[in-house]
Amino acid sequence: MPFFEIIHVDSQQQAASHAIDRLTNDLNANSLNRLGLATGSTMIPIYKSIIESSLDFSKVTAFNLDEYVGLAPTNKNSYAFFMKEHLFSKKQFKNTYIQNGLAEDLELECIRYENKLNEHPLDIQFLGVGENGHIAFNEPGTSFDSVTHVANLTDSTLGVNSQYFDKNENIPTRAFTMGISSIMNAKKIILLAFGEKKRVAIEALLGDEITEQFPITVLKRHPHVTVITDIK
Ligand code: GLP
Repeated sequence: MPFFEIIHVDSQQQAASHAIDRLTNDLNANSLNRLGLATGSTMIPIYKSIIESSLDFSKVTAFNLDEYVGLAPTNKNSYAFFMKEHLFSKKQFKNTYIQNGLAEDLELECIRYENKLNEHPLDIQFLGVGENGHIAFNEPGTSFDSVTHVANLTDSTLGVNSQYFDKNENIPTRAFTMGISSIMNAKKIILLAFGEKKRVAIEALLGDEITEQFPITVLKRHPHVTVITDIK
């Protein structure tokens, strides 16, 4: 029987404490060695709670979902920078992996990353969701069979992302992203979604349809999903 749990919370702080409980259980049971991580404002309270906790990740290898094509890890808008700032500079991990935004050969970088993932199957993958239902940067229409690839970002995503970039900065229009199939290989998925802007995505996840036009709906085929949300 698949496991699908939805936990309704009133605050992001409550959400973080549920996430910490899951991590604690699996670390104590020695069943958390490889952790998939996400970026975005949704994850910030989770990372803050992880840092404040006594949880030991020194034997855990982390993989990130995605990275902008063309951004160096020193660029404040890169996801490598985000992860360093919000987690990796304050909590020790065994190893951390993220796609190389500056890779010259994009295809080779995707293959390299997917191979790394296959060598280290993920025990837990954290996910946020885009307003258009994307997971990682798998935009509507992405094949459910996709592995790590370069995604062309949609206008909706570019619009949401533009808030983080200075006016005179070019917003990257492409990103490396784990594919839907790469994400579905994780043993457990914990998806977090807060705020009215995510209602459409959460309602699609709870509805009957499974469609590539709404990537989040693929999670209904996953054997172990926890959704933590304030959307009721
Ligand atoms: C980006 C990331 C996604 C993330 C989403 C939500 O699109 N690629 O992985 O889920 O942002 O971001 P936020 O948490 O800021 O709403």
